[in-house]
Amino acid sequence: MSQKKKSNTNTEDIDKFARELQEQLMEQIRKKYSDVVIDHWQNPRNFEKIDNPDGYASAKGSCGDTMEMFLKMSNGKISECGFQTDGCGTTIACGSIATELALKKSFIQALATVSADEILKKLGGLPESDIHCAELAAEALRRALADHLYQKRAPWKKQYRQT
Ligand code: FES
Repeated sequence: MSQKKKSNTNTEDIDKFARELQEQLMEQIRKKYSDVVIDHWQNPRNFEKIDNPDGYASAKGSCGDTMEMFLKMSNGKISECGFQTDGCGTTIACGSIATELALKKSFIQALATVSADEILKKLGGLPESDIHCAELAAEALRRALADHLYQKRAPWKKQYRQT
């Protein structure tokens, strides 16, 4: 066999191996997580920083991962909601769902409805070991809402913020 043909065969073998490995990995993930989790993990909604937010918070989970939540309000409703995280795929899915739940809600509605339980319900549940990811997303949102209230009470402080 020529050197070139041999190297092509090696590359094809490696590609095939990588594909099979990825399929096995996805199969394991599908056994553990719902389609909704996988979708939000792979295509997170509102994964963005928002400039000059009307509410902002950063929260740290029990695992050490952090999530930032950004809110923009318009006519008393959440018109934009973005998040950033250095956490795992499940955390990304939880942040993504939390922002979708919060959008178009009033301050009170968001405070009352966006909870870890609600995030878990929308995601179709999570394994016990990942429940803290939903708690982190809910906590980040709750803090951002609290920050919005704080900003409303002391709007002049907004210009001194670093967000
Ligand atoms: Fe840390 Fe998900 S593993 S928040």
